[in-house]
Amino acid sequence: MSTALARDAAVLDGARVPATGMPNGMLPEQTAVELSDVSVTFGKGVHSVPALQPTKLRVPDGDFIALVGPSGCGKSTILKLVAGLIAPTSGVVLVGGREVSAKALRVGMAFQNPTLLPWLTIEKNVMLPLKIVEPFRAQFRSQRNNSFRDKVHALLAQVGLSGFANHFPWQLSGGMLQRANLCRALIHEPRLLLLDEPFGALDQFTREELWVVLQDLWQVRRPTVLLVTHDLKEAGFLANRICVMSARPGRILADRDVTFKRPRTIANTFEPAFVTLNQELREMIVAARAPAPTGSMGGR
Ligand SMILES: Nc1ncnc2c1ncn2[C@@H]1O[C@H](COP(=O)(O)OP(=O)(O)OP(=O)(O)O)[C@@H](O)[C@H]1O
Ligand SMILES: [Mg+2]
Repeated sequence: MSTALARDAAVLDGARVPATGMPNGMLPEQTAVELSDVSVTFGKGVHSVPALQPTKLRVPDGDFIALVGPSGCGKSTILKLVAGLIAPTSGVVLVGGREVSAKALRVGMAFQNPTLLPWLTIEKNVMLPLKIVEPFRAQFRSQRNNSFRDKVHALLAQVGLSGFANHFPWQLSGGMLQRANLCRALIHEPRLLLLDEPFGALDQFTREELWVVLQDLWQVRRPTVLLVTHDLKEAGFLANRICVMSARPGRILADRDVTFKRPRTIANTFEPAFVTLNQELREMIVAARAPAPTGSMGGR
């Protein structure tokens, strides 16, 4: 398991400065994540791959952002930058106002491919961040962890995995693994949640159920969420803002607010305003995937 999944200081918790002199108890807006002219090139010389053009992105604390765009445009790269798993080639990545590489973070990340440890049961896989991340780590040692087991079981039940706590990853389907992966990203109540196509391998109905679960969790706990998805309906259902990226090397082409009231329902996704948003996003991505070569007639 990567240390970036379970670093032990809560920078974002620390960034929640009490408001002074603000009307009606309003908090001044904190920035959870900021990319300042960040670019990424993998490799060197003739083999180098420019993955991300200089990119700016500011995410207020507690916001929910979806990143969408063609395959290979740098979406996962952005999440890995924010998690501190890779370093920018140029520019600065700030999380909770500090450079990512400079300070430990309490981040939850669900990777594109579930990364559960095959020799641990689902319960133990999901519990892992509690063994590593403070303040849970100290309690875990002192309490012999019955309350943690209850916490894990409650979360597994919420995503429909009751009864699978003592199974091993190889005994679960791909969709079940993704749900367990999501539980592991959430169990230590991170202030920053990085989700890389967390529902990609699920059937449509299960996916929609989990959208509702995630929306509920977000409304209660208000973590800052960066969600990468290819599903535009998912982006419109869950996010407050949708950033559309260009083909590689990626950049953010459009940054759209999504203002549908919450809690959103699956029925809302069939309403005209939602369908129109979907169509607009789709057209942007089609254009971003296949820019017409100079001199071409375009179209068929
Ligand atoms: N470690 C690496 N070394 C070399 N190239 C890499 C590396 N990681 C990513 N890339 C390249 O950088 C580009 C962006 O990759 P990234 O994984 O961010 O794409 P993505 O938008 O998440 O795509 P997908 O939607 O298919 O998951 C790709 O062209 C990929 O081949
Ligand atoms: Mg990806």
